[in-house]
Amino acid sequence: MNPRPEFNETIALLKRRRSLPPQGMKGPGPSPAEVELMLTIAARVPDHGKLAPWRFILFEGLARERAGAIAATLLSQDDPSLPEARLQAERTRFSRAPLVVGVVSRAAPHVKIPEWEQQLSAGAVCMSLVISANALGFVTAWLTEWCAYDRRFCAAIGLAPHERIAGFVHIGRANMASEDRPRPDLAAIVSRFPA
Ligand SMILES: Cc1cc2nc3c(=O)[nH]c(=O)nc-3n(C[C@H](O)[C@H](O)[C@H](O)COP(=O)(O)O)c2cc1C
Repeated sequence: MNPRPEFNETIALLKRRRSLPPQGMKGPGPSPAEVELMLTIAARVPDHGKLAPWRFILFEGLARERAGAIAATLLSQDDPSLPEARLQAERTRFSRAPLVVGVVSRAAPHVKIPEWEQQLSAGAVCMSLVISANALGFVTAWLTEWCAYDRRFCAAIGLAPHERIAGFVHIGRANMASEDRPRPDLAAIVSRFPA
Protein backbone atom coordinates (compact mmCIF):
# COMPACT_ATOMS: atom_id res chain seq x y z
CA MET A 1 0.00 0.00 0.00
CA ASN A 2 1.81 3.08 -1.20
CA PRO A 3 -0.45 6.07 -1.93
CA ARG A 4 1.12 9.02 -3.68
CA PRO A 5 2.58 10.98 -0.75
CA GLU A 6 0.45 14.06 -1.42
CA PHE A 7 -2.67 11.91 -1.08
CA ASN A 8 -1.76 10.18 2.20
CA GLU A 9 -3.99 12.59 4.09
CA THR A 10 -6.84 12.05 1.64
CA ILE A 11 -6.74 8.32 2.31
CA ALA A 12 -6.57 8.95 6.07
CA LEU A 13 -9.55 11.32 5.88
CA LEU A 14 -11.65 8.92 3.84
CA LYS A 15 -10.83 6.03 6.13
CA ARG A 16 -11.97 7.83 9.27
CA ARG A 17 -14.75 10.10 7.98
CA ARG A 18 -18.08 9.67 9.67
CA SER A 19 -21.16 11.75 10.33
CA LEU A 20 -22.00 13.73 13.41
CA PRO A 21 -25.72 14.32 14.04
CA PRO A 22 -26.60 18.01 13.81
CA GLN A 23 -27.57 18.13 17.50
CA GLY A 24 -23.85 17.66 18.18
CA MET A 25 -22.84 20.64 16.05
CA LYS A 26 -21.98 24.21 16.87
CA GLY A 27 -20.62 27.26 15.07
CA PRO A 28 -18.79 28.99 13.68
CA GLY A 29 -19.73 27.82 10.24
CA PRO A 30 -17.53 28.04 7.19
CA SER A 31 -16.34 31.44 5.98
CA PRO A 32 -17.58 32.71 2.60
CA ALA A 33 -14.27 31.61 1.03
CA GLU A 34 -14.63 28.13 2.57
CA VAL A 35 -18.22 27.88 1.33
CA GLU A 36 -17.13 28.83 -2.17
CA LEU A 37 -14.33 26.26 -2.08
CA MET A 38 -16.65 23.50 -0.85
CA LEU A 39 -19.29 24.24 -3.46
CA THR A 40 -16.68 24.46 -6.22
CA ILE A 41 -15.41 21.01 -5.24
CA ALA A 42 -18.96 19.67 -4.88
CA ALA A 43 -19.82 20.85 -8.39
CA ARG A 44 -16.78 19.03 -9.79
CA VAL A 45 -18.32 15.58 -9.96
CA PRO A 46 -18.83 13.13 -12.78
CA ASP A 47 -21.74 14.51 -14.78
CA HIS A 48 -22.64 12.61 -17.95
CA GLY A 49 -23.41 15.13 -20.68
CA LYS A 50 -22.23 18.17 -18.68
CA LEU A 51 -25.82 18.91 -17.68
CA ALA A 52 -25.10 20.12 -14.13
CA PRO A 53 -28.36 18.44 -13.11
CA TRP A 54 -28.19 19.82 -9.58
CA ARG A 55 -28.02 23.12 -7.74
CA PHE A 56 -27.50 24.39 -4.19
CA ILE A 57 -29.69 26.28 -1.72
CA LEU A 58 -27.81 27.66 1.30
CA PHE A 59 -29.56 27.99 4.65
CA GLU A 60 -27.57 30.29 6.93
CA GLY A 61 -28.33 32.71 9.75
CA LEU A 62 -31.98 33.69 10.12
CA ALA A 63 -32.93 31.89 6.90
CA ARG A 64 -32.51 28.64 8.86
CA GLU A 65 -35.23 29.78 11.28
CA ARG A 66 -37.52 30.70 8.39
CA ALA A 67 -37.11 27.22 6.90
CA GLY A 68 -37.85 25.68 10.30
CA ALA A 69 -40.93 27.87 10.70
CA ILE A 70 -42.22 26.62 7.33
CA ALA A 71 -41.72 23.02 8.47
CA ALA A 72 -43.48 23.63 11.80
CA THR A 73 -46.40 25.41 10.12
CA LEU A 74 -46.93 22.54 7.68
CA LEU A 75 -46.90 19.96 10.46
CA SER A 76 -49.28 21.91 12.68
CA GLN A 77 -51.66 22.35 9.73
CA ASP A 78 -51.63 18.58 9.24
CA ASP A 79 -52.08 17.84 12.93
CA PRO A 80 -53.21 20.78 15.10
CA SER A 81 -52.86 18.61 18.21
CA LEU A 82 -49.09 18.23 17.90
CA PRO A 83 -47.31 19.04 21.17
CA GLU A 84 -45.41 22.30 21.38
CA ALA A 85 -42.14 20.43 21.96
CA ARG A 86 -42.48 18.73 18.58
CA LEU A 87 -43.23 22.00 16.84
CA GLN A 88 -40.26 23.60 18.53
CA ALA A 89 -38.06 20.77 17.29
CA GLU A 90 -39.28 21.52 13.77
CA ARG A 91 -38.64 25.24 14.18
CA THR A 92 -35.02 24.49 15.01
CA ARG A 93 -34.61 21.75 12.40
CA PHE A 94 -32.35 23.86 10.18
CA SER A 95 -30.71 25.85 12.99
CA ARG A 96 -28.77 23.03 14.64
CA ALA A 97 -25.89 23.44 12.20
CA PRO A 98 -24.47 26.86 11.26
CA LEU A 99 -24.84 25.95 7.58
CA VAL A 100 -27.23 23.62 5.80
CA VAL A 101 -26.72 23.11 2.09
CA GLY A 102 -29.75 21.85 0.22
CA VAL A 103 -28.50 19.84 -2.74
CA VAL A 104 -31.25 19.91 -5.34
CA SER A 105 -31.47 17.34 -8.13
CA ARG A 106 -32.70 18.92 -11.35
CA ALA A 107 -32.77 15.57 -13.16
CA ALA A 108 -35.19 15.57 -16.06
CA PRO A 109 -35.87 13.53 -19.18
CA HIS A 110 -33.10 13.98 -21.75
CA VAL A 111 -32.58 12.57 -25.23
CA LYS A 112 -29.30 10.90 -24.31
CA ILE A 113 -28.62 10.96 -20.57
CA PRO A 114 -30.85 8.72 -18.40
CA GLU A 115 -32.46 10.46 -15.45
CA TRP A 116 -31.00 7.78 -13.19
CA GLU A 117 -27.49 8.93 -14.07
CA GLN A 118 -28.42 12.54 -13.38
CA GLN A 119 -29.73 11.51 -9.97
CA LEU A 120 -26.57 9.55 -9.21
CA SER A 121 -24.57 12.66 -10.05
CA ALA A 122 -26.52 14.59 -7.38
CA GLY A 123 -25.51 11.93 -4.84
CA ALA A 124 -21.91 12.41 -5.89
CA VAL A 125 -22.31 16.15 -5.31
CA CYS A 126 -23.50 15.50 -1.75
CA MET A 127 -20.57 13.20 -1.04
CA SER A 128 -17.98 15.58 -2.47
CA LEU A 129 -19.49 18.34 -0.37
CA VAL A 130 -19.26 16.13 2.73
CA ILE A 131 -15.64 15.22 2.02
CA SER A 132 -14.52 18.76 1.27
CA ALA A 133 -16.21 20.08 4.42
CA ASN A 134 -14.50 17.40 6.52
CA ALA A 135 -11.15 18.18 4.88
CA LEU A 136 -11.62 21.80 5.97
CA GLY A 137 -12.13 20.69 9.58
CA PHE A 138 -15.92 20.66 9.75
CA VAL A 139 -18.28 17.85 10.67
CA THR A 140 -21.23 16.94 8.50
CA ALA A 141 -24.53 15.10 8.35
CA TRP A 142 -26.21 14.27 5.03
CA LEU A 143 -29.90 14.15 5.88
CA THR A 144 -33.20 14.21 4.07
CA GLU A 145 -36.00 13.55 6.61
CA TRP A 146 -39.63 14.32 5.92
CA CYS A 147 -39.10 17.84 4.61
CA ALA A 148 -37.21 16.55 1.58
CA TYR A 149 -40.22 14.49 0.54
CA ASP A 150 -42.96 17.01 1.29
CA ARG A 151 -43.82 18.82 -1.94
CA ARG A 152 -45.33 21.73 -0.01
CA PHE A 153 -42.06 22.25 1.84
CA CYS A 154 -40.04 21.84 -1.34
CA ALA A 155 -42.19 24.42 -3.13
CA ALA A 156 -41.85 26.82 -0.20
CA ILE A 157 -38.06 26.71 -0.43
CA GLY A 158 -38.16 27.31 -4.16
CA LEU A 159 -38.07 23.90 -5.83
CA ALA A 160 -39.77 23.45 -9.18
CA PRO A 161 -42.17 20.48 -9.37
CA HIS A 162 -39.61 18.22 -11.09
CA GLU A 163 -36.79 19.07 -8.68
CA ARG A 164 -35.96 16.89 -5.69
CA ILE A 165 -33.83 17.21 -2.59
CA ALA A 166 -30.80 14.92 -2.75
CA GLY A 167 -29.78 15.98 0.71
CA PHE A 168 -29.73 18.67 3.31
CA VAL A 169 -26.01 18.58 4.10
CA HIS A 170 -25.50 19.96 7.60
CA ILE A 171 -22.06 21.48 8.17
CA GLY A 172 -20.66 22.69 11.48
CA ARG A 173 -18.04 22.27 14.17
CA ALA A 174 -18.03 19.25 16.45
CA ASN A 175 -19.55 19.92 19.85
CA MET A 176 -19.41 16.29 20.94
CA ALA A 177 -17.61 13.10 20.05
CA SER A 178 -19.16 10.90 17.40
CA GLU A 179 -19.57 7.15 17.53
CA ASP A 180 -18.68 5.23 14.43
CA ARG A 181 -21.14 2.70 13.09
CA PRO A 182 -20.33 -0.82 11.98
CA ARG A 183 -19.17 -0.79 8.37
CA PRO A 184 -20.09 -3.38 5.78
CA ASP A 185 -18.17 -6.62 5.68
CA LEU A 186 -16.54 -6.54 2.25
CA ALA A 187 -16.83 -10.31 1.96
CA ALA A 188 -20.61 -9.91 2.02
CA ILE A 189 -20.78 -7.33 -0.77
CA VAL A 190 -17.87 -8.13 -3.09
CA SER A 191 -17.85 -10.84 -5.69
CA ARG A 192 -15.59 -11.45 -8.61
CA PHE A 193 -17.11 -12.06 -11.99
CA PRO A 194 -15.87 -15.50 -12.94
CA ALA A 195 -13.58 -15.94 -15.95
C1 LIG B 1 -29.64 10.28 0.64
C2 LIG B 1 -29.41 10.08 2.11
C3 LIG B 1 -30.33 10.57 3.01
C4 LIG B 1 -30.15 10.38 4.37
N1 LIG B 1 -31.09 10.87 5.23
C5 LIG B 1 -30.96 10.63 6.53
C6 LIG B 1 -31.95 11.10 7.43
O1 LIG B 1 -32.92 11.73 7.02
N2 LIG B 1 -31.79 10.81 8.75
C7 LIG B 1 -30.71 10.10 9.21
O2 LIG B 1 -30.61 9.86 10.41
N3 LIG B 1 -29.75 9.66 8.38
C8 LIG B 1 -29.84 9.90 7.07
N4 LIG B 1 -28.88 9.47 6.22
C9 LIG B 1 -27.70 8.75 6.76
C10 LIG B 1 -26.59 9.72 7.19
O3 LIG B 1 -26.28 10.63 6.19
C11 LIG B 1 -25.27 9.02 7.49
O4 LIG B 1 -24.85 8.38 6.33
C12 LIG B 1 -25.31 8.04 8.59
O5 LIG B 1 -26.03 8.53 9.62
C13 LIG B 1 -23.91 7.71 9.13
O6 LIG B 1 -23.04 7.36 8.13
P1 LIG B 1 -21.59 8.03 8.01
O7 LIG B 1 -21.02 8.12 9.39
O8 LIG B 1 -20.84 7.11 7.12
O9 LIG B 1 -21.76 9.38 7.36
C14 LIG B 1 -29.02 9.68 4.84
C15 LIG B 1 -28.08 9.19 3.92
C16 LIG B 1 -28.28 9.39 2.58
C17 LIG B 1 -27.24 8.84 1.61
